[in-house]
Amino acid sequence: MSGLKSGPISEAKAPISEAKAPISETKATGSAYAAGSLLTVEHLSIADVAEILAMTARLEAMSSAERARVLEGRTIALLFYESSTRTRTSFELAAKSLGATTTLVSDKSSSIEKGESLKDTGLTLRALGAEAIILRHSASGAPFLLARVTGLPVLNAGDGMHQHPSQALLDLRTMLSRLPGLGVHAAIDANTLDGVTVVITGDIRHSRVARSDAMLLPRLGAHVVLCGPEELLPEDALGLDPVEGAGIEIERDFDAALRRADVVMMLRIQKERLTGVDLDLGEYIARYQLSVARLAATAPKAMVMHPGPIIRGLEITSEMADAPQSAIEEQVAQGLAVRRAVLVRALGVMA
Ligand code: CP
Repeated sequence: MSGLKSGPISEAKAPISEAKAPISETKATGSAYAAGSLLTVEHLSIADVAEILAMTARLEAMSSAERARVLEGRTIALLFYESSTRTRTSFELAAKSLGATTTLVSDKSSSIEKGESLKDTGLTLRALGAEAIILRHSASGAPFLLARVTGLPVLNAGDGMHQHPSQALLDLRTMLSRLPGLGVHAAIDANTLDGVTVVITGDIRHSRVARSDAMLLPRLGAHVVLCGPEELLPEDALGLDPVEGAGIEIERDFDAALRRADVVMMLRIQKERLTGVDLDLGEYIARYQLSVARLAATAPKAMVMHPGPIIRGLEITSEMADAPQSAIEEQVAQGLAVRRAVLVRALGVMA
């Protein structure tokens, strides 16, 4: 299994689904896990999404001194088995800005290197006082296991090719912030994104971000167009559609997709997961790279997003990444804001 690292996951082997499987994973309910867990967008009702975004706005409106009392005296652990810049830093800064004590455990500098299992690492963090754990792991399903064995609220910070739910929430808030007629205080319901077409382009096969966005945005009314070559976008991606045939379609022609786009989300080619995939990068760039000229010719008013890390000159040109239509830095900033709210939700304060 390409998504599994050696050793430490031994406790997690059985319950963790095969990394390729989650595209058709059966829908689970969140009831088996501690309240406040954020494991998959599938566990979020539209009312949950509305509450999280309302909490985000409430925390944003506070003074920094007021915010620093919200989680004063609380302890949050960050457990990262995979590299991260945006997610790790924003969760950590979010927790600290709320007054919480944080501790970071990375697979590179902990007893995980000696073979300690995910279960035992989680139990250790709990024994040390962690009240919630933020987990990034290369194995799809690892956060579910951790939530089950610790009984703590677990926030999935990206698991293999499966889910990245806080990314979907921050992407949603970035869209609300920039799309005409909406705004971050827009009412959240099944029609909030009516008439909005979101084109997601690139390595969808390996992308937990694409999976989470495609499973959330249509429930709020958006139409999601997935775009990319067969090697990176299998037809069974249509099975992600949360509104059964109405919310997602596949378009292989990038320019045709762009002509309909209100939002263009570009994805990184995940070279680390491309073993066995036959992809000609030169051809890929010619067909799917987003440039200022391409956007101007097809969707001049569209906003451009990317979850990062971006690879300038591959899926997006450097000029495009820095252009006014690019919301890439705003996505990062919204990540800090939204992650404050999911931490407050995890620890059950300010209900
Ligand atoms: N978007 C995202 O998950 O970025 P990081 O891998 O840097 O956390």
